[in-house]
Amino acid sequence: MRKKVIAGNWKMNMTPSEAVELVNTLKPLVNNPEVDVVFCVPAIDLIPVAEAAKGSNIQVGAENMYFEDKGAYTGEISPLMLVDAGIKYVVLGHSERREYFAETNETVNKKMLKAFEHGITPIMCCGESLEQREQGVTMDFIRQQVKVGFQGVTAEQAKTAVIAYEPIWAIGTGKTATTQQAQEVCRDIRACIEEIYDAATADAIRIQYGGSVNADTAPDLFAQPDIDGGLVGGASLKPDFGKIVNYK
Ligand code: 13P
Repeated sequence: MRKKVIAGNWKMNMTPSEAVELVNTLKPLVNNPEVDVVFCVPAIDLIPVAEAAKGSNIQVGAENMYFEDKGAYTGEISPLMLVDAGIKYVVLGHSERREYFAETNETVNKKMLKAFEHGITPIMCCGESLEQREQGVTMDFIRQQVKVGFQGVTAEQAKTAVIAYEPIWAIGTGKTATTQQAQEVCRDIRACIEEIYDAATADAIRIQYGGSVNADTAPDLFAQPDIDGGLVGGASLKPDFGKIVNYK
């Protein structure tokens, strides 16, 4: 049985002081031991959020990371910094980073390998555009993202990874994929993992759905056999996130 993992992606929201306030508001609301709860927050908020979350079930994740340990990479955050700050997860390859910051399958792959090297759990994002869905190439596109993203990743590492399926057309649009659409793609991603590795790895890896998840849509989505939780944007900044974490 896979444990659900429900993560908030704060994106570029919350100043450090707002972040601490939000953690203090949400802490009692997201206290569900049946679920892994992760707050993925802007770099400058990582340390205050980790501090504020101490003693709670909230784990903290970064929204990006560079694929070198240290050096002349102005503006980047290294895995060593994350580990030292007690950060357990990192979102990699979000569609916004692919679209606005030239992230590619190849850089995502390098970051995946780096994250595993340092024991950070990657939440690797994939997902098609509306145009790709209409052209019927959704799975061709996602298979490429997954296959390149996991190149050189061992089965043992892959078992601990999280994949977030986020159809681009559903992100921030209020247009959640239907439960059936989300389940179908998550099932096909799991099949792709089985193809790359084996049935045991496919069975262990956790696959989230993301894209306009809210307290109303979460219960049905998370009840699907291949959906192991969610990556939540807008609704993770509100008390509603507590309802999403306690979706049952
Ligand atoms: P929304 O939940 O705001 O649609 O964002 C989804 C997302 O991109 C999470 O990473």
